[in-house]
Amino acid sequence: MGIYYDEESSLFFIETKSTTMCLAITDKEGFLNNVYYGTKIQRDNLRYLLRTGVSPFVPSVNERDRGSYLDCARFEFPSAGAGDYRPSAVTVTDASGHDASQFLYESHRIYKGKENLYAQQVDGKNVRMPATFEGGGKAETLEITLSEDVLGLKALLSYSVFEDSDAILKNVRLINESDSSVIIEKLLSSNLDLDKGVWDEDGPDVVTLSGTWARERHIDRRNLSRGSVEVYSARGETSHQFQPFMVVCDKDANDSCGKVYAQTLIWSGNFICGSSVDQFDNIRSYIGINPEHFKWDLKPGESFQAPEAVLVYTAQGFDDMSHIFHDLFRDHLIRSSYLHKERPVLINNWEATYFDFDTDKLISIASEAKKCGIEMLVMDDGWFGKRNDDNSSLGDWTVNEEKLPGGIRALSDKLDEMGMKFGIWFEPEMVSPDSDLYRAHPDWAIAVPGRKPCKMRNQYVLDITRSEVRDYVYKCVSDILKSAKISYVKWDMNRQLSDLGSTQFDAESMGRLSYLYTIAVYDLQGRLLEDFPDLLLENCSGGGARYDAGMLFYSPQIWCSDDTDAYERLKIQAGTEMLYPLSTMGAHVSASPNHITGRAMPFDVRGAVALSGTFGYELDITRIPSEERDAISEQVEICHKYGETVREGDYYRIASEEAAQYYDAWMSVHKDKSKAVFTYIQCRAYPNGKGRCIRLKGLDPDADYKILLIGSDREGSFFCSEAKKKAWEALAPGILSGSTLMNAGLIVPLLPGDYAQMMFEIARI
Ligand code: DGJ
Repeated sequence: MGIYYDEESSLFFIETKSTTMCLAITDKEGFLNNVYYGTKIQRDNLRYLLRTGVSPFVPSVNERDRGSYLDCARFEFPSAGAGDYRPSAVTVTDASGHDASQFLYESHRIYKGKENLYAQQVDGKNVRMPATFEGGGKAETLEITLSEDVLGLKALLSYSVFEDSDAILKNVRLINESDSSVIIEKLLSSNLDLDKGVWDEDGPDVVTLSGTWARERHIDRRNLSRGSVEVYSARGETSHQFQPFMVVCDKDANDSCGKVYAQTLIWSGNFICGSSVDQFDNIRSYIGINPEHFKWDLKPGESFQAPEAVLVYTAQGFDDMSHIFHDLFRDHLIRSSYLHKERPVLINNWEATYFDFDTDKLISIASEAKKCGIEMLVMDDGWFGKRNDDNSSLGDWTVNEEKLPGGIRALSDKLDEMGMKFGIWFEPEMVSPDSDLYRAHPDWAIAVPGRKPCKMRNQYVLDITRSEVRDYVYKCVSDILKSAKISYVKWDMNRQLSDLGSTQFDAESMGRLSYLYTIAVYDLQGRLLEDFPDLLLENCSGGGARYDAGMLFYSPQIWCSDDTDAYERLKIQAGTEMLYPLSTMGAHVSASPNHITGRAMPFDVRGAVALSGTFGYELDITRIPSEERDAISEQVEICHKYGETVREGDYYRIASEEAAQYYDAWMSVHKDKSKAVFTYIQCRAYPNGKGRCIRLKGLDPDADYKILLIGSDREGSFFCSEAKKKAWEALAPGILSGSTLMNAGLIVPLLPGDYAQMMFEIARI
């Protein structure tokens, strides 16, 4: 890996282990163009790729005076209003209201390492933004300065690579060196122009992750044809609806092969992420802050930092793409000291009691849980103010002593005596209209003067861009954390932003609010982790509405979805795992029938699905059938035994129920290929069928492996019934090489009934 500049050809080569990106400065004007991004190639003179030459409107080579050059060249930082009619990466309006700009090469520097990104809060304080960092793998950075001479602006485009990664990291900083303010209407973090020639005749596909509450991050695939495909959020969070993630890939790309260009954003607020095909079939892919609800009055001498974008290219399909993202996030983004540690198996009381609990109830759950090997009790929503439903008390972070006599300290002491860790829920960014806080400070809620803000879940959003509000919120959380033995915080956010108004901004600056809101969340969580370095933080947003790379900078795990139905989770988790490591995915076993879908599922299947995330329980353990309670300790043991493989290994999609008709399967393989866990879920019974031959992935072809149906070696296992054991024994192959398992495959028996699981340990001998 490395970054090279060839003086003679004015070409930049940004190289990772297996990819090359080549940028060129055009001779005449100094445009920065992207001439190549793909599989690693020699550092040849690629200037010939600058020639557009063939369109009817461009009869001669590099004919600049023809308008269509500007509308079809592969620009790195395309601006609006000056002849490129495709989606721009930057739009600025000057003091006289004009919005044309053109950024041209001025200088560059290449340096070892990678600098942190900072945003400026309202009080002038610099807040570190989430971004990848060097960690164990060396980094190199190219910073190109582009200049907009008419407006007196500079754009600093940074490109970083790590020696151990195939991702390219990009970010943009805009600086106003003029004497007057400009308005940034749009500033994206990355633009990638690709030539149609990269694909076969029928063009590429686009893959996104989309959904809604309780159906987050389903994999969505469609053809990319002329026009645009865009996913976005204007909700003040990344959202249940879309992820800042898009893949442009070969039409026949699959998990194991095909060219894949993917992008994501290290950001937890509004975003757009799109791909558009122009009149010449060029493809423009872009990602950055959503220009909706955004306007930044960039004053003389000020600069504005856009979040970091991640670009990944591979010719080896989606599994390889996922490995690149997973490794990048684990090695260069997640800072928590828990990253590589076994996380405590927790039991959360939300689905067990909702708001109806007290110390006795929690202790009874905890003591049953303790007997089964569960290590931590998490007290969810409802412990403060007079919150017995979702109508009140957000903002009043004082303990409800009617529910918890002696306060949190008494509860945490009891748990501590039992040898149980204790975790607690907060929703710090919110205020209930029915709260002492709102009655004292109605102006602390985000609202437009003269307009009643819309309520969602009966609550408003606090204007944490104001430092006094942020300090209040922080003190509430930290006072509670200091008052007792608390190992874990679940940080929730249960509504989106709307009615954007803040008393501290004038008309000119009001458009800063949604960006600074996200920065304020980062500031709060950053402070929390600085003051409580041993805290395990789990982010959450009404399920998984703020599951993004930005939050991973603060919390090593994020609650994946409020939908804990194991069947629904197959789709949610497969989409999540496309981008995020399994170690980040909060996954719990809940009661059956499931509270959201009403679907009944066997306990072992609920366990097998949850075991591929950060494992826990979300049910009233004192009330579930005794055979389910008895099964918990075995599941906890499985979690401990295979946790490392799931947490640290490479994830492979094997089959999805949608395509495979009746089953779903996936694997986690240790980095050294010594051990793998293969999970097979039979979703539906299949009449008159036979055992399914499944080819495994990621093993060492030359090594021999022993296959164990997990639980089959245990007397009276709850995880593996005698019938299942027998069905497997009839087909069990004995020792097989990795090459056989990956090519000839393993035969998994057809099981009776809907919803059955088989988990296998595949161990090198
Ligand atoms: C939404 C979360 O996703 C749930 O797990 C729970 O914490 C509730 N909020 C509590 O209000």
